[in-house]
Amino acid sequence: MVEQKRPPKNRGFYVRMKFLHKHGRPQEKSCFHKYYKWVLWISLTLYFFTSYLISNNTHSKPTSSLTKTNVTNSKSAIASRALFESTNPTALQQVQINQALLKNLKIFIYDLPPKYNTDWLTNQRCSNHLFASEVAIHRALLTSDVRTFDPYEADFFFVPVYVSCNFSTVNGFPAIGHARSLLASAVQRISSEYTFWNRSRGFDHVFVASHDFGACFHTMEDVAIADGVPEFLKNSIILQTFGVKHKHPCQDVENVVIPPYISPDSIWTTLEKFPVDGRREFWAFFRGKMEVHPKNISGRFYSRRVRTMILRKFSGDRRFYLQRQRFTGYQSEIARSMFCLCPLGWAPWSPRLVESVALGCVPVIIADGIRLPFPSAVDWAEISLTVPEKDVDKLGKILEHVAMTNLTTIQRNLWNPRTKRALLFNNQVQLGDATWQVLLALAGKLDRSYRGSRVSRQLMSDT
Ligand SMILES: *[C@@H]1O[C@H](CO)[C@@H](O)[C@H](O)[C@H]1NC(C)=O
Ligand SMILES: *[C@@H]1O[C@H](CO)[C@@H](O)[C@H](O)[C@H]1NC(C)=O
Ligand SMILES: *[C@@H]1O[C@H](CO)[C@@H](O)[C@H](O)[C@H]1NC(C)=O
Ligand SMILES: *[C@@H]1O[C@H](CO)[C@@H](O)[C@H](O)[C@H]1NC(C)=O
Ligand SMILES: *[C@@H]1O[C@H](CO)[C@@H](O)[C@H](O)[C@H]1NC(C)=O
Repeated sequence: MVEQKRPPKNRGFYVRMKFLHKHGRPQEKSCFHKYYKWVLWISLTLYFFTSYLISNNTHSKPTSSLTKTNVTNSKSAIASRALFESTNPTALQQVQINQALLKNLKIFIYDLPPKYNTDWLTNQRCSNHLFASEVAIHRALLTSDVRTFDPYEADFFFVPVYVSCNFSTVNGFPAIGHARSLLASAVQRISSEYTFWNRSRGFDHVFVASHDFGACFHTMEDVAIADGVPEFLKNSIILQTFGVKHKHPCQDVENVVIPPYISPDSIWTTLEKFPVDGRREFWAFFRGKMEVHPKNISGRFYSRRVRTMILRKFSGDRRFYLQRQRFTGYQSEIARSMFCLCPLGWAPWSPRLVESVALGCVPVIIADGIRLPFPSAVDWAEISLTVPEKDVDKLGKILEHVAMTNLTTIQRNLWNPRTKRALLFNNQVQLGDATWQVLLALAGKLDRSYRGSRVSRQLMSDT
């Protein structure tokens, strides 16, 4: 739960505060500084607790009824007053929590010609398919508080290039063959027009790589590995859906694992019809590609044959609802299922993971070594099940055991709105949502920023 979450110990926070308060009022400084973190966390706890209480799977802005909290703890009361008492508590609290938690992060967004990004939006799917976080993050940043128009005060530089929107007319999947050259051209442009790339050799520049093998920009793992991360991106920070716990050439770069994009509107629409605590008529559900005889494609089998095994073993099992065809209403199936299987495809990650969490179906992750997004916000062990690929034939027994023991505990954890919020990208950044988690991750990398290193130099010369 929220209460147990501790802010990461981070000297950088105090460094930043100290630096900022040099120019502030000295009397207020010590008291404010001393209790700042404490006040912040009490308030955040309150915030999330209240939003948990008041959100009954509705759209309602969770911030709107904070004042309803009946705070019995006097310390908390003072703390919450300190942060929330205002004629406009929503805006004030947003700004203060954001600034404090995000360490006054500042991001400059390059204004690239439309051929790098917005031209692609003429295809409506560009901003809605599973790789669309490249669009969503850009969009949310444009209106966010962390945006700065002054590159000299920026900690990070966001380079908005959409590479996943050239949809093949044959199979409907995006062709990303042009990704490397488009990105190279964007880097060429910003490094010649601005001084900031050369100044840091790209260290404080941020890119999104939202398709199969992330920063390797290829859909097949063997080619992706052979190509590796493009040389010109190797110093930068990559926000990528691909992540594994072991060493892998496609994450051999500073990176943040992000969730795949699922339209929040589609989730809300589904939840209106099928609330998370509604009837779950399907026991274990999977819809997707399952090959009876998977092909050996240069030494690799789709899903490492896990999906084939699921099909062979459980297609005749009444507890399992397995479907191989595409179906647009599949979100309603997730919302009506108890367990949702999330086996690997070519890559370990899957949009089903986000959909299952958002729709309250316990995700059953079958993808050895997968590194999941935002572990500081989502306690994956408490809200999902992980089954080793080699045990996939025992799935029936494993799920049966969970259903008899801790299923309700897992569901209770899973249905905390905070979890869902962390995995969805909204058009405008909302406290705790996926873009906000990206910002939080970046705030943890301020030592990479040119401005950040200036702050620490300042501190060193002080002491
Ligand atoms: C808050 O709680 C106290 C006792 O704990 C009670 O007397 C009071 O009526 C409550 N206030 C509200 C607004 O619920
Ligand atoms: C889009 O992909 C096709 C291959 O499917 C490729 O021929 C074409 O050059 C790509 N378009 C751009 C603008 O990169
Ligand atoms: C940055 O470095 C490149 C390669 O050395 C050079 O071509 C470019 O002009 C430099 N950019 C600026 C703004 O000086
Ligand atoms: C798959 O094909 C590769 C050659 O591409 C071969 O070396 C390997 O033995 C094959 N694996 C299986 C399980 O058939
Ligand atoms: C639920 O039980 C399973 C299997 O016994 C275990 O692996 C998992 O960690 C448990 N989860 C929680 C949240 O208790």
